[in-house]
Amino acid sequence: MLRSTIIALGLLAAGMGSASAQPAAADGKTLFATKSCVACHGRGGAKAIQTYPELAGQDAKYLLEQMTAIAEGTRLSGPDARGYPRTQGMKDIMHLVNPAERQAIAEYLSKEPAPKVRPLDPPIDEARMAAGREAYQKGGCQTCHGADGLKPLPTYPIIGGMKRDYLVLQLTEVRDGIRQNGKVKTMLPFAKKLDDAKIAAIADYLSQIDRAAK
Ligand code: HEC
Ligand code: HEC
Repeated sequence: MLRSTIIALGLLAAGMGSASAQPAAADGKTLFATKSCVACHGRGGAKAIQTYPELAGQDAKYLLEQMTAIAEGTRLSGPDARGYPRTQGMKDIMHLVNPAERQAIAEYLSKEPAPKVRPLDPPIDEARMAAGREAYQKGGCQTCHGADGLKPLPTYPIIGGMKRDYLVLQLTEVRDGIRQNGKVKTMLPFAKKLDDAKIAAIADYLSQIDRAAK
C-alpha cells in the first residue's frame, strides 16, 4: 500500500514540468535523471561545463546515434584534464541503458527547450561575429548544418548555440581524424581546410547564435 503510493508519487513528480505528458517523454526524463546522465550533463542536458555538449533541443536521431557510438567505442575523443578520453566516463555507464531506453532519453532531450546563449568573456564584438560567420559560410558548413547552424539536414546535428569550447574540440578532432564515427566522414573534406584560427572564429560565432529566439 505504502510502496504503491510512493511509486505513484514518484511517477507524478517525474511527469511534472512537461506541458504535454506523453508517456515516452516522461519515461526518458526519469531515465535521464536516474541513470547518471544528469551527473555529467546537468538537468535537462544543459550543464554549464564548456567542454560538454548541449543536449537539450538536439535532433533525436542524432542524439541516439551518438549514445550508441560512445557506448560501442566507435566515437573517440581526445583527453580531458586528467588525461582520460572525454568519452570514457560516459562509455563506462552506458550499459545502464538499453537501446529502447536510449531512444526514450533521446526523444525526451530533443523536446527540451533549446539552451540560452552563454555570453563569451570578453564579449564578442561585431567584427569577430562577422569574421566567424564568413568563415562558416565560405567553409561550406551551411550545406549540411544550415544558416547559423540551426537548420541541419535531417538527423544532422544543430550546432548554432553550442558551447564555444565544445565546438572547438569537435572541429579540431574531426579535422584531425580522432572523431570518425557515423556520417562524420562526409564533413572531413570541409574540416580539413580549417586552421586553428578559423576553428576559433567559427566556434566564437556559432556559440553566440540565439537558438531560443529563432
Ligand atoms: C562521466 C560523464 C558523463 C556521463 C555519466 C554521461 N555523459 Fe554523455 N557525454 C559526456 C561527454 C564529456 C561528452 C562529449 C564527449 C566529447 O567531447 O567528444 C558526452 C556526449 C554525449 C552525447 C553526444 C552529444 C553530441 O552533441 O554529439 C550524448 C547524446 C550524450 N552524451 C548523452 C548521455 C546520456 C543519455 C547519458 C546517460 C545515459 C550520458 N550522456 C552520460 C559525459 C558524460
Ligand atoms: C557534408 C555535410 C557536412 C558539412 C559540409 C559539414 N558538416 Fe559538420 N557534421 C556533419 C555530420 C553528418 C555530423 C555528425 C556526424 C556523426 O554522425 O557523428 C557533423 C558534426 C559536426 C559537429 C559536431 C556536433 C556535435 O554535437 O558534436 C560540428 C561542431 C560540426 N559538424 C561543424 C561543422 C562546421 C563548422 C562545418 C564547416 C567547416 C561543417 N560542420 C561542415 C556533416 C557536415
